[in-house]
Amino acid sequence: MNKKEIPFRVGLGVSGGIAAYKAIEVLRLLQKSGCRVQVAMTRHATEFVQPLTFRALTDQYVLVDDYDEGNPDPIAHINFSQTIDLLLIVPATANILGKFANGIADDFLSSTYLAANAPVMVAPAMNVSMWDHPATQRNIEKLKNDGVHFVEPVSGELACKTVGTGKLEDVENIVRQALEILNRQKIEKPATNDLAGEKILITIGGTREAIDPVRFISNHSSGKMGFALAEAAQKRGAQVTAVCASTTADRPKGITIIDAISADAMHKAVRENLSAKSIFIGAAAVADFRPANVDEFKIKKTGLDRLNLELEKTADILAEVSAAKTAGMLVIGFAAETNDVVDFARSKMQRKDLDMVIANDISQKGAGFNTETNIATILIKSTGAQIDLPLMSKREMADKVLDEIANIRKSSAATTA
Ligand code: PMT
Repeated sequence: MNKKEIPFRVGLGVSGGIAAYKAIEVLRLLQKSGCRVQVAMTRHATEFVQPLTFRALTDQYVLVDDYDEGNPDPIAHINFSQTIDLLLIVPATANILGKFANGIADDFLSSTYLAANAPVMVAPAMNVSMWDHPATQRNIEKLKNDGVHFVEPVSGELACKTVGTGKLEDVENIVRQALEILNRQKIEKPATNDLAGEKILITIGGTREAIDPVRFISNHSSGKMGFALAEAAQKRGAQVTAVCASTTADRPKGITIIDAISADAMHKAVRENLSAKSIFIGAAAVADFRPANVDEFKIKKTGLDRLNLELEKTADILAEVSAAKTAGMLVIGFAAETNDVVDFARSKMQRKDLDMVIANDISQKGAGFNTETNIATILIKSTGAQIDLPLMSKREMADKVLDEIANIRKSSAATTA
């Protein structure tokens, strides 16, 4: 896969069979092929392989149960299933095949199967008698009729020392067949190219404002929302330049990244990179104030009970970009609020003459800083529209925002035609 391409996103489902350990090898091979993999397991699978193993290898939360308190995403089965290019089950036990075939959704993986709109591939592994049993064969028939792809098990000596069909196919063959589906799907269903020609400048992350060489003032922005927008726009044909403050989220490939850690550095980087851009998106959490004086040396606390900091305003990058916007340029801002969200966002849109504002209540569960999901309202100046977006993954929200940008372009093209 060449580095310009967006990596395939694979949901790797592991069900509770002795071959579960082979899912680790499948994961490594998929990653070596450039795929981005997130793992989901049945409760039984965790008895064969610890979720920690997969977490360490993917640096992502391993989904076993939507309601696990450690789960960062309350509707993970929806978001997981809606943001993958393939759901691959290795190994697939007779039990999980039965659940899939009969629409049973009593755990995370079986719910994800029903919610997935990506292709599904299963690699069965089980005792030969279980494989041959009419009930299993009926389920297999049903799943094949539902369009599920099978990596047929092979004959050989099984873990239970019996010989016959039921042994998991070699991991290399499983991965080869999975990549075949992914590549075929990409050719058959190329991503829409509706942002081709757009040159986007986007600010991302949380700025850091120095107090002294050791300390700074910052905020909780991880960059996830901004990078989701950057990745989605790039996938839809836009050329994307991101000016990034402090971020902890994965950085997508295929975009130009300029690091600018403070509000001042970000202000300078935006000014230097704004020319010839057709869209500006202010997704960064930029400090409104910074210490008026930065101490040259670390402030010593001896003898101090209180420390007062005098803060001064920073440049309002978004307002400045909007005031200088060239003909046809779209300027889009975010509003991070905790109350009267839409009213504050609307006044921000008017005051700064923005074309669109994405307003998010950062106090809502599942929304705002460093979450996998967001809840927002899009306000559009040209139509007066207010579009409420319920809890969804930031990647899905990015596509919704970009859909509205594409709609603005379409309607302005129609009026000038
Ligand atoms: O990064 P994540 O962890 O995914 O979190 C996402 C997010 C909550 C940071 C994001 O969804 C968001 O709301 N970003 C804007 C945060 C913010 O600073 O909002 P604000 O209402 O304070 O600022 C309004 C707008 O002006 C924003 O577009 C901001 O980028 C811009 N701004 C603010 C101050 C400043 N000096 N210059 C600016 O450009």
